[in-house]
Amino acid sequence: MSSDKIIIAIDGYSSSGKSTMARRLAKTIGYRYIDSGAMYRAVTLYAMRHALINPDGTVDAPRLETALPEISIDFKVDGDGQQTLLNGEIVENEIRTLEVSNHVSPVAAIPAVRHALVKMQRAMGETKGIVMDGRDIGTVVFPHAEMKVFCNATPERRAERRFKELTEKGATVTYEEVLANVMQRDHIDMTREESPLRCADDAVMLDNSAMTIDEQNDWLLNLYRSITGKKD
Ligand code: CDP
Repeated sequence: MSSDKIIIAIDGYSSSGKSTMARRLAKTIGYRYIDSGAMYRAVTLYAMRHALINPDGTVDAPRLETALPEISIDFKVDGDGQQTLLNGEIVENEIRTLEVSNHVSPVAAIPAVRHALVKMQRAMGETKGIVMDGRDIGTVVFPHAEMKVFCNATPERRAERRFKELTEKGATVTYEEVLANVMQRDHIDMTREESPLRCADDAVMLDNSAMTIDEQNDWLLNLYRSITGKKD
């Protein structure tokens, strides 16, 4: 059966608001939403729990690579949101901590980790009708995606948003710690050898530093409509 559904790839810097608008667009147009960052975060949580992060913060890549077949990641739709499952356990809150954020970029730079997750992500997009956000979705995972967006905002604005999100959840973090994490992840994500963060040549760029959430949601929906010619 032919379908006119498309693949929507939303990439960008950390805390650039991509997950918020990707999730909303998926809900509005009836697509599946996949947060690929949650998958890297779940692998990182597994590594932390199994002492695969060395005391100096580096990752024991050979042991993590050996453990990869034992890691299963799933998503469960839950009302408006989505829960990430690591080997059957809901870890949605655990993967969002600053501690996981501090280790995730080195884990995500390991080629074997990327190969395993990219394979799963491509399988999820086989039937199209998917909005996926991350760092390499438009460049590596779905280079032929019909709609690609690349998001950015100033590091200060992004850190402010993430700081607010974390403190609202009760975390004890400082703005400075969050800003340092945002900047460090940007650096590792952009300079790693395996599929570094970069804007795909055919992506539409969005700087949402001065936009509200509603404004960026509308912007994305309008782009979807102009690409597909749909009114839904
Ligand atoms: O939500 P936030 O912007 O904090 O980041 P995320 O989307 O949860 O991704 C967490 C980390 O996973 C990123 O900093 C990257 O190191 C890595 N990642 C990646 O390498 N490739 C992806 N497709 C998605 C995330």
